[in-house]
Amino acid sequence: MCGIVAYLGDRQAYPILIKGLHRLEYRGYDSSGIAIINGNLNLYKRKGKVSELEAFVEGKDVSGTIGIAHTRWATHGQPNDENAHPHFSQNKELSIIHNGIIENYNSLKEELMKRGHIFDSETDTEVLIHLIEDVQKNETLELSEAVRVALNQVVGAYAIVVISQNDNQRLIAAKKGSPLVIGIGENEFLIASDATPIIEYTRKVIYLEDEEMAILERGKEPEIKSISNIVRTPYIHELTMNLDSIEKGGYEHFMLKEIFEQPHSISESMRGRLRPGEGIISLGGITQYKNKIKNAKRIVMIACGTSWHAALVGEYLFEELTRIPVEVEYASEFRYRNPIITEDDVVIAISQSGETADTLAAIKLAKEKGALILGICNVVGSSIPRETHAGSYTHAGPEIGVASTKAFTSQVTLLTMMALMLAHEKGTISDSHHQQLITELSNIPTKIEAVLKTAPLVKEIAEKYKNSRNALYLGRGINFPVALEGALKLKEISYIHAEGYPAAEMKHGPIALIDEEMPVVVIAPKKGNYDKVVSNIQEVKARKGKIIAVVTEGDTEVRNMADHVIEIPDTEELLVPLIATIPLQLLSYYIAIMRGCNVDQPRNLAKSVTVE
Ligand code: G6P
Repeated sequence: MCGIVAYLGDRQAYPILIKGLHRLEYRGYDSSGIAIINGNLNLYKRKGKVSELEAFVEGKDVSGTIGIAHTRWATHGQPNDENAHPHFSQNKELSIIHNGIIENYNSLKEELMKRGHIFDSETDTEVLIHLIEDVQKNETLELSEAVRVALNQVVGAYAIVVISQNDNQRLIAAKKGSPLVIGIGENEFLIASDATPIIEYTRKVIYLEDEEMAILERGKEPEIKSISNIVRTPYIHELTMNLDSIEKGGYEHFMLKEIFEQPHSISESMRGRLRPGEGIISLGGITQYKNKIKNAKRIVMIACGTSWHAALVGEYLFEELTRIPVEVEYASEFRYRNPIITEDDVVIAISQSGETADTLAAIKLAKEKGALILGICNVVGSSIPRETHAGSYTHAGPEIGVASTKAFTSQVTLLTMMALMLAHEKGTISDSHHQQLITELSNIPTKIEAVLKTAPLVKEIAEKYKNSRNALYLGRGINFPVALEGALKLKEISYIHAEGYPAAEMKHGPIALIDEEMPVVVIAPKKGNYDKVVSNIQEVKARKGKIIAVVTEGDTEVRNMADHVIEIPDTEELLVPLIATIPLQLLSYYIAIMRGCNVDQPRNLAKSVTVE
């Protein structure tokens, strides 16, 4: 987590850096800071959001055409002014911003303290910039060389940018494990954790690889080399995202915009891939491995957070359609328990950001064991797609709200297409059922548009339950993960404790919690185990719980029992999660807003979790 941004060029750096920090604030918002060279190295930092930094620097000297800035998600040390980035070196001539964790910072710090270094903060980052200064002095090295030598002593993850008060001509950047993108404009360079602070100024970018560093000098071509000093020829990518996609576009919050974008984002996930007229699904990214995947003895899906919920939906889809056994693993658990993975396994890693540290580490582990690794990611050019053998982007567009919404439905869309394509190849689905599902999948965006029209009703329901202290979410079969996702959405943005359960499991414990205060959200489409879900609703009603039911249009049976119903259009059972998720997202959003919570930046969370 943490967002970094840097600028070197002809313009004033401050407005560009501040705007960049706002764009990256989703990555962490415990503190922020900025350092700009204007003769002196002027450094300002503040606990809290970027807006607090802006207020703090008012009236101060922020002029200069080279600078670095940082927004922090605390790892080492409290979120206070001292621990905020940028950090100074001992002589205060160098400054650094850093995203990642220096694991051996303690031993490095001890050594440096013995040599007289005094530290102002508790951070690992300050140790690194002191180390760079120490190396530079002791070995009388030029700065970029000192950075390179110092990085060879470091264990851990980093995306860093270093500047020196004595050199307003150069930015020095390096990366390992954490993301870093370099934008190349007309006589200017930008560096950032992702492309969103860059897109306004240039479409040309370089994605640094792990253990690479960049020396960016005014008026010169970027110089890229490995930290073992091997010169690399950079590949310049062309960004395709547009500016509108990273702005609120008239919505009050990114989360609401992203919820309402889902008809479009799902269509984008399917564009050029789902061809209902021809009865074809074509996923170019994995075609090469089609045979290997369809013959896999087992598929293991690894992910974290909301992406893990998408994987659980994927398990139902793949097992039902392809008859290949699927296991779903939390990446953080998988990587630390000597998992049994062989060359016959196919691993599917799912991640919105493509940067989640645990997912990345799990991929590397499974790769070492010989499995084929596929990725389903949203952020183009991020680390996971570059680490996997093949995969498909979700193409949902940038997701800025910390609570994932459109990325989830796009992940489920991708998993549905993958499962359908493989099932058809494998012959585990009839032509007619395949065609029926493809046609229905193509209708999902329109059906979601209809669900979004329930927003005013969902808002009324939210008003009634905004002061609840707990909530239960129930679903069966493929809608059980939808219940988990609904509960996660509520707890992460409204701070109401919520649990998702398979409906039938309620009687093995959670039922004890039910009283007249307890809202129970039930996903009860007229499909599959409908009758069983109806029985579960009766069990809740018998204990005076309040039922909010998501039902199929025209349902009367649940309507007669529930306190509130939200209707969704009828669809194929396997596609219900794509639709049923929407009202749950809206419910969390409205409840959180009514409780005065910051839905786009919920407390303690970050969108891109680049620490373990
Ligand atoms: C964080 C985010 C979640 C996300 C999870 C996994 O916790 O707040 O929204 O689901 O990370 O992230 P990924 O980028 O791998 O999907």
